[in-house]
Amino acid sequence: MAGRLKDKIALVTGIGAGIGRGIALRFAREGATVIGCDIDATTAAATVQAAADEGLQIASVHPCDLTRPADVERYVRSASDTHGRIDILVNAAAIPPHMARAAEMDYEGQWTPTMAGEVDIVFLAVKAAWPWLLKSGKASIINFASVSAFRGSTNFGMLAHCAGKAAVLGMTRQLAIEGGPGIRANTISPGLVVTPATASAGGTDGAIRERLLERMPLKRLGDPDDIAWCAVFLASDEASWITGANFPVDGGVMAG
Ligand SMILES: NC(=O)c1ccc[n+]([C@@H]2O[C@H](COP(=O)([O-])OP(=O)(O)OC[C@H]3O[C@@H](n4cnc5c(N)ncnc54)[C@H](O)[C@@H]3O)[C@@H](O)[C@H]2O)c1
Repeated sequence: MAGRLKDKIALVTGIGAGIGRGIALRFAREGATVIGCDIDATTAAATVQAAADEGLQIASVHPCDLTRPADVERYVRSASDTHGRIDILVNAAAIPPHMARAAEMDYEGQWTPTMAGEVDIVFLAVKAAWPWLLKSGKASIINFASVSAFRGSTNFGMLAHCAGKAAVLGMTRQLAIEGGPGIRANTISPGLVVTPATASAGGTDGAIRERLLERMPLKRLGDPDDIAWCAVFLASDEASWITGANFPVDGGVMAG
């Protein structure tokens, strides 16, 4: 199946870790021209090297802080100056959310940075890339909502995270309305995917993992490539009649 994204110019944010890294590598294997970015220069460079080790090329702008409009502009220009259009925008970068319950959540120190790191970070990239996505004529935006956009958590205080992910879901529906017919916009809602962020938050082992697996029909946590395959489909012309949709990729958790 290699070549499903041949001739596509793809921006993938957050290529230094987790889902963004998995998508950047998978897109490159499928023939896309990938321009990544990350705030972390070391991990982004490691992803570029991992691609090179496979004989593939990924360009990357790093360090790039996507909560700063000037950095976002610089990133988008690095693609638009060379290619004159953008076909795919995958907003995988996100700042780990502050985990606090309503009673303890601090407005300035926790709520506001979580919204910036989950919602503003998507809006800013979409805004900067929009004119170049329009030039594509058949562009695809892929944003990340989450199971947390649909249900609360009994394990963690996820007030701001649940709000942020529901905001991304709503924003993406509106982008689908405003973008048609030339720009499609969809969300993927992952279940628990093993990444450095989820591992350090304590969700991928111990009792929490066991409780989660109990209600998961497919009985394993996700891998970034599980998400990347869905992103390949949504980014490709195979999905040319799909916009404003949400794809749960979660081992079946949302079914229960
Ligand atoms: N991993 C999961 O279980 C899971 C579940 C549901 C939703 N999601 C969503 O999927 C997306 C990707 O998640 P992940 O687990 O791969 O995250 P991650 O934390 O593993 O990776 C995010 C990447 O973004 C980069 N980044 C952070 N702040 C940045 C900034 N200001 N500018 C540029 N880059 C920045 C980080 O350096 C990192 O490389 C997020 O939106 C996340 O909320 C993940």
